[in-house]
Amino acid sequence: MTPPGPDAHPPSSEPHLRAPTAEDGKAVHDLIARCPPLDGNSLYCNLLQCSHFADTCVLAEVDGQIAGFISAYRLPRRPATLFVWQVAVSAPARGRGLARRMLLELLAREACAGVDTLETTITPDNRASWSLFTSLARALAAPLTQATMFDRERHFQGGHASEMLVRIGPFTTRPQTDYHRRRTA
Ligand SMILES: CC(C)(COP(=O)(O)OP(=O)(O)OC[C@H]1O[C@@H](n2cnc3c(N)ncnc32)[C@H](O)[C@@H]1OP(=O)(O)O)[C@@H](O)C(=O)NCCC(=O)NCCS
Repeated sequence: MTPPGPDAHPPSSEPHLRAPTAEDGKAVHDLIARCPPLDGNSLYCNLLQCSHFADTCVLAEVDGQIAGFISAYRLPRRPATLFVWQVAVSAPARGRGLARRMLLELLAREACAGVDTLETTITPDNRASWSLFTSLARALAAPLTQATMFDRERHFQGGHASEMLVRIGPFTTRPQTDYHRRRTA
């Protein structure tokens, strides 16, 4: 009999959210490889996210397997803004509010005290991602604006779709984790 693979968790299991550690770096790297259209980064980059940036990254486990990961950091020159780099949820765990819950969990952390704006970039055709961040803006009762951040020709020399900067904020209250757990249960 074939042993269960990394995406084999049953959809009924309750996710456990926590900050990552360097020991999670390889599993995060593998999860991102299973989540197109995300760009893969080097394993070293994922290790840095899971160590230097662990306080502003979140990992979701289902039955001991990694089912979701968000990399994020406070902008060095505008620390009231949390920049969300990548959001990845394994295919079987999708459609259950996990990505939105991970984002709200991040914003509720002490490490995000004083954050009143969230930014990310989304390619124009990533419907799931637009829906996720539109839903988040609704949950935070905050405006969502967009502009081009990295242009297909100017920045990617035609080799990658433009990345649209999405800004959500300002929001006035930090989400309460328990409240959002109830809403997303
Ligand atoms: C995008 C992604 C992270 C969403 O994860 P998820 O856990 O399924 O998302 P959620 O269940 O929290 O959904 C949040 C909202 O987005 C909507 N949504 C999620 N996936 C969607 C899809 N494929 N099409 C349309 N809407 C979608 C949900 O309906 C929900 O809206 P609601 O709150 O109004 O009901 C996941 O599909 C993924 O990992 N995709 C591949 C990688 C990627 O594209 N990442 C985003 C770019 S950084």
